[in-house]
Formats: sequence, structure tokens, C-alpha cells
Amino acid sequence: MAASWLKNTVFYEIYPQSFYDTNGDGIGDINGITEKLDYIKGLGCNAIWINPCFDSPFKDAGYDVRDYKKVAGRYGTNEDLYRLFEEAHKKDMKVLLDLVPGHTSEEHEWFRQSQKAEQNEYSDRFIWTDFCFKGASGFPYVGGESERSGCYILNFFKCQPALNYGFLNVTEPWQKSMQDPAAIATREAMKDIMRFWLSHGCDGFRVDMAYSLVKNDDDKKSGTSAIWHDVRRMLDLEYPEAAMVAEWSNPPLALRAGYDTAFCLNEVGSGYSTLMRDYYNHVYSEEVPKNAEDHSYFKKDAGGSINRFLDSYMDWYEDTKDIGYMSFFTCNHDTVRPGYNLDERELKLAYSFIFTLPGVPFLYYGDEIGMRYLDVPTKEGGYFRTGSRTPMQWSSGKNLGFSSASSDKLYLPVDSDNNAPTVETQEKDKNSLFYAVKGILALRHSEEDLQADAEFVPVCTEEDKPFVYKRGKLFCMVNTTGKTLEVSLNDMPKGDVLYKIGDVAIKDGKLIVEAQSFAVMR
Ligand code: NOJ
Repeated sequence: MAASWLKNTVFYEIYPQSFYDTNGDGIGDINGITEKLDYIKGLGCNAIWINPCFDSPFKDAGYDVRDYKKVAGRYGTNEDLYRLFEEAHKKDMKVLLDLVPGHTSEEHEWFRQSQKAEQNEYSDRFIWTDFCFKGASGFPYVGGESERSGCYILNFFKCQPALNYGFLNVTEPWQKSMQDPAAIATREAMKDIMRFWLSHGCDGFRVDMAYSLVKNDDDKKSGTSAIWHDVRRMLDLEYPEAAMVAEWSNPPLALRAGYDTAFCLNEVGSGYSTLMRDYYNHVYSEEVPKNAEDHSYFKKDAGGSINRFLDSYMDWYEDTKDIGYMSFFTCNHDTVRPGYNLDERELKLAYSFIFTLPGVPFLYYGDEIGMRYLDVPTKEGGYFRTGSRTPMQWSSGKNLGFSSASSDKLYLPVDSDNNAPTVETQEKDKNSLFYAVKGILALRHSEEDLQADAEFVPVCTEEDKPFVYKRGKLFCMVNTTGKTLEVSLNDMPKGDVLYKIGDVAIKDGKLIVEAQSFAVMR
């Protein structure tokens, strides 16, 4: 474990193009983030993760990087970003950038060189077969577009050629080993990019598709993990407080590879889907059966069980608690927003749970006010994800306070609903979702037992009883159903309520949790 500051950190994820536009061009910018740091800190988030803000043709909203060391013109300049680091640090906040190590844009200079017929420094920076008509033995590939005779492997969309970190098991003559100088050069180039941003004040990286580097590396234990160990060694020596956050669907593996924390992603049965939106995986595959059953836990009376979540979460938790953290989120730029499925009360309960879990939680911009998932046409390779990427809703002003541009110039349309939630309205209402988030985050910061390290122990997980768990010495309890639930425990809280949604009481030796309620008690 490297970055000690993660212990009491709550991240705010910012989709830069949609957060706050300060120059009136209809697209959010870095200066907009700097201006809103006080807002973010006031909410209770003391760190931010910015989705890729680098030069890009934006065929995958910036996850197709054309120049890793240059801020995209539409967001501002490198100097703006350096100033953001500085201002954040003055407020005791941290900033993570998004590192995309698995692929570049097809317009990156490395790729332009790599596709040339004559051999050059970058010929093997990407993964090429050795003949224009030879496919890539099971890997997705593109042929017929290069000057050289060969096809190249893709890492994600067509615009994202895979960088060459080598193959763990070489099975074709065109495949390079991990020890090949070209594979090592790729790894060194990525370290150089990390050093560049860290030396300018960035505090670490959220790493895109961290599992995807080495090919023919089925269990990811010796190939891709070895690359990350090497990166960790560099960081330990040069930037010991840099934080590494993995997008890797297997947190135990990611932490063992040297990450500080890893997202609990949306695999079937785990995390987000069992709690927030049961048929999420169908949404992902765009086959949403209209009458699909929804047993997500926070949906009132949907018959969901916390045990479906705990079944996968506890295995991971036990396996990881001594080596690093896991990160749960309200949603992210790749998922539908939680408000798509949950109403305001359900969201309050869900967020209270997420923000009292161990590890390092993430709040996606706008989830604090319950921004809706909008039905909008795809933008920059977003497809169904685009609906979660619309402009932040600040006020009742023009474009809901996001931008002074004319509405046809906006990156994406703002929510046109008359009742679209805004920061302005929710800041005036002590019963708002915004205040519920602010309240639980304030408690998390004041009680060490609610932070990353304190033990998480489920105490009552029986159906028809409230779900009770302990964090250190504190008791947390939640009832997501429409009826009062009660339980008597051997180890009962004394009764001081530190935070609540709805109501709880202790009576005749019983803990009584009213319908749709949550509480933290001592
Ligand atoms: C995961 C990112 O979160 C997603 O937005 C992106 O499209 C892919 N990786 C490809 O980089």
C-alpha cells in the first residue's frame, strides 16, 4: 500500500466535457473544474478523478488518446491543468488523471509511424501480424489500412489499436515476448507519461482496462501483473504517495498486482447490479426485456436480498482487506445513472450504504442531486452510456448553469424536464438528496470507523429483518422495504444516533428500523 491519503478519501468523478464551461463554447473545461473545487469539497469529496482530458479525435470520448502529454484544446491548456493541481492541493484535495495504457488513438504519432512500410522505432509499438492477409488468431484486428503488409490488433473500438506489451505465451511467429525490447519500450513509454504528470502535480491515476496489457495471459497473474509490479517499483521509489486505481474486474488480482484500490464493477451477481439495478447486465448488452424482473436490493419491496451482494463482496473483502482497498461507486460514465431505477428515497438509502462501506468510494458528478439518465442519441462512441454523460445541472439559469453558449452548441443537451434537479434547488432544501449525501460524507470524515480501514462485519443478514453491519465500533442498519423491521442482537448499540434517513429506535431490547430507513448508531 502506497498512498496513505486514501484512508480518508472520497472521490468525485468528473466527466470534463459535461461539468462546467467557463469560456462559453458549450463544452466543460479544466478551469470549470478549478472553479468548482469548493463545491466538491463542501459536498464532502476530497479528491477528484477526471476522465481522459488529453488531445484526442474523441471517437471514444477521449479514451482514444492522440497525445498523452497534452490537454485537449477543448478543455484548455496544460497550464490550466497544472493550476488545477495547485489549487486542489491548497484545499487539501487530490487529483487523479485517467491513464489509458492499453491502446492509443489510431491518430497517435506512434501509430502513424508504426503503420509505415519502412522499419522504424515504433514498428513494434503496436501488435502487427506479418502479412496483410494474415488475421490475428482470435484477436480483433484491422487489415487493409496500413502501408505495411500486416494487420493490427485492437484493444476496444476500431479507433483503438492495442499497444504491444508482449505475449506471455508466444504462439505465432509475429507475436513478441514480454522481454522483447519493443515490449519493454512500450512499458517505459507509459512510465514516462506517468512521471510527466506526477512531476507536474497530479496525485495518481485511474487506470483504464488495467487488465488488458499482456496478451495470451489468461489468468493475468504473471504477465500483466508483472508490468504493474514494475510500475509500482518505479512509483515506490519516485512517487511513493501516488495512488493507483484499477479498472479491473477482479479486485484481488489488481491489488496483488500493486494497485491501491480497484473498482467493484458490474459483473453478474456482484456490486452495482444486485444493489442498484438488477437487470443492469441486460442494459449493457442492450437487450432490456420490458418485464425483466428487478430484485435490486435498494428498490422498495422488490424482494431483493443483501445476501446476493454479500456473497460476492465478502469473498473479495476477506481476500483483500489486508492488501488494499476496493472502490464502490454510485455509478460511472459507463453505466446508467442510479436514478434510472431508484427514486429519491431509495437513492438516499443506497448512497448511505455505499458511503459507509470500507475502501475508497466514488461519487459520479450529478448523482448527488439525482441527475436523470437521459434518452439522447449517441455521442463520441458513447451509445447507451451517453445518457449518463449529460451536462451538470447547477442552477435554474441558462442551460441549467452549465454554459453560457446557445443551447445548440452544448456538448450534450441538458435535462429539459421542468423538475430537473439542480444544485441550486437542493442546496435550499434540507431534505434533499444533496443534503443526505453531504450528511453521510461529513460523518464518514469525522468517524475513523467509517473510513477505508475499519473492519466491516455483517451482523444481521436474515431476510425480513433489517440488514445490520458493524464498522469498527459503529452500527449501521438499513431497511429497504415498505414495512417496519426489527431484530434483537446479542451485541446492541447503546442508542446514540449519529445519522439517519427515516427513523430507528431501540425498544424492549429490540432494534426497530422503520420502512425505508437507514441509521448509523453508537
Ligand atoms: C473503459 C472506459 O471506462 C470506457 O469508457 C472506454 O470506452 C473503454 N475502457 C475503452 O478505453
